[in-house]
Amino acid sequence: MAATKETKREQTELSEAEIAVHWKEEGYYEPSPRFIGQANLTDPDLFEKFSLDHFPECYRAFGDLLSWDKYWTTTLDTSKAPFYRWFVGGMLNASYNCIDRHLAQHKNKAAIIFQGEPESEPPVAITYQELYARVNEVAALLRDFAGLKAGDRVTIHLPMTPELPITMLACARLGVIHSVVFGGFSGEASGQRIADSASRVLIGMDGYWRSGKMVDHKPAADIAYETAKREGKPPEKVLIWKRYKDRYSSQAKLVEGRDYLIDDLLPKYRGERVAPVSLPADHPLFLMYTSGTTGKPKGIQHNLGGYLAYVTAMSKYYQDIHPTDVYWCMADIGWITGHSFIVYGPLALAATSVIYEGVPTFPDPGRTWRIAEHLDVNIFHTSPTAIRQLRKLGPDEPKKYHYRFKHMTTVGEPIEPEAWRWYYHTVGKDEAVIVDTWWQTETGGFLCSTTPALHRMKPGSAGPGVLGIHPVILDENGNEVPPGSNRAGYICIRNPWPGLMATIWGDPDRYLKTYFQKYNKNPKSTDWRDWPYLAGDGALLAPDGYFRILGRIDDVINVAGHRLGTKELESACLTVPEIAEAAVVPVADDLKGRVPEIYVALKPGITASDEIKQKVVQAIETQIGKIARPKTVWIVPDMPKTRSGKIMRRVLASISNSMPTGDTTTLANPEVVEQIRVSVQGARPAVTKEGPADIRAFGQTE
Ligand code: WTA
Repeated sequence: MAATKETKREQTELSEAEIAVHWKEEGYYEPSPRFIGQANLTDPDLFEKFSLDHFPECYRAFGDLLSWDKYWTTTLDTSKAPFYRWFVGGMLNASYNCIDRHLAQHKNKAAIIFQGEPESEPPVAITYQELYARVNEVAALLRDFAGLKAGDRVTIHLPMTPELPITMLACARLGVIHSVVFGGFSGEASGQRIADSASRVLIGMDGYWRSGKMVDHKPAADIAYETAKREGKPPEKVLIWKRYKDRYSSQAKLVEGRDYLIDDLLPKYRGERVAPVSLPADHPLFLMYTSGTTGKPKGIQHNLGGYLAYVTAMSKYYQDIHPTDVYWCMADIGWITGHSFIVYGPLALAATSVIYEGVPTFPDPGRTWRIAEHLDVNIFHTSPTAIRQLRKLGPDEPKKYHYRFKHMTTVGEPIEPEAWRWYYHTVGKDEAVIVDTWWQTETGGFLCSTTPALHRMKPGSAGPGVLGIHPVILDENGNEVPPGSNRAGYICIRNPWPGLMATIWGDPDRYLKTYFQKYNKNPKSTDWRDWPYLAGDGALLAPDGYFRILGRIDDVINVAGHRLGTKELESACLTVPEIAEAAVVPVADDLKGRVPEIYVALKPGITASDEIKQKVVQAIETQIGKIARPKTVWIVPDMPKTRSGKIMRRVLASISNSMPTGDTTTLANPEVVEQIRVSVQGARPAVTKEGPADIRAFGQTE
């Protein structure tokens, strides 16, 4: 009986996702007539054409943006819902769509403009013709030297240099499935992803510039190799690009018979052309690992036809890219934003896409705006963390430079109205339209955003569902939370769409459970209406139909727009021999949104010391990367636990954020809460401030 009572109590806590949120409505901003006059999407009737009555055939319009070797026969096959297949019967190639098809009209146009971090290095423009030549040569090397063929996996652990998109497109040309690991992730993180995807080849680089320093990146490839080997899945070859073609910039040696310098091999393939392999629309294009509730990152699998059609349409209608624009997305290609909105979407539209190697505020906070001015960028795309950083370090810098943006994006985290207004007035010079795009690795492209020429902007709100996306907020029991109720709930998408992931690599069950199980009532149903997609974010719906995203409701912490799984961090802590238990919680941070804070309990007989804390930080940096570095490590006598022995992370999160801990009397060890509170907050009296909704809801899925 006691157990039932406890479950009940945990369920009452669950309803915190439905927290009433007191939210001041922000005023609207209108897109300028100048923007509207040139925009790609100005016909409001298009939304009617994308209503659920016209689903799924409305998505033909997206497929039609691509060049097909063979046109598809079925727009959407739901026979294995929610494992959907889009554009079934169609055949195409992504590299062809992003390069070859533009040559007739745009071969002399810059496809990519690369700006290295050292300001002494002038930008390098790579035309579509040049991109074509390079991608072909690399594809020939991957095929003939590495023996790669359609369906094989390759892990790419590269910084922000042109070699990254070139390698991705060379893979895509062959139908090789690329798995790009963010350059800032550690070698071990890369190795785990190599093993999970059973990649045949690892592609890395000797070094790259970051904050004025040449980072030696080759050691990461060595660690990755060893890690994958330990997992029983060593790659056959390690291919290394050189940042400077005339020298090798790493201290690490090449391992004979395993490591090869791509730039030294390439001359053999000069002038080679590789016919783009015609692939079925549902062939996997890439894997992108992302964090979730469990310790193991999941390999989100995106399939060729649906993904490419979706990101092309989003780039056209929501990024408003025209062939004459200079488009700069400041994200890293190692995240989904870079895949969709630096590489595949813009290049499929024959845009000019800018790639910047380094830190936006290096060597000074004017750098970003100097690049924009020099390249005459007119579409700009970044994250709230970057906006907050640029604002903090150089609030008046944008005024000094003569760039002119027509369009700006914010993505990755909720943006505070204050930061939004600085973005609008100062960066956008009261002229650029802003889209606040809410989406995820899993969704391929945008889910919510205002349509730049059609909708008014509202600071802090992403906006309504994009063309074809029909979001809804559901409560714990699957009932719709009506607009304007001021109650938060779980944001879901009613319908599938072409950009939705195909599955989780090697773990279809996890795909089902994570995204669909909560609200599906009939697991046998082949009707898409029975499978709302659970995004994993809490949200509110205003009376005007605009969604305001509150943040993750699972155990994911959004640090500077990057997803980190608390369980991944905790497993890293547990590799420190002295640690018995670890709990990771999010703490609100002025610049990065959220940062992780760590609580550890030591094994019996071990005395607390700074050295142990250092070891914990070290373990996190080597196993995940510096981006996951915790704000603080607290050593506690014991973790607050339920009677069934679960760590109450929610209570720890409240303490870390100076929020009330709520009723803790039902815990197995309530006294420990006050002890921890005093050691974290000092002897101050307990506070009563409400705190951010995502932190209030943190840990509720346990
Ligand atoms: C968060 C990044 C508020 C959200 C594209 C989501 C946002 C997670 C926004 C996905 C936004 C993304 N406003 N929150 N405009 N965009 N998020 O997979 O919590 O790296 O679930 O994809 O970032 O992160 P991911």
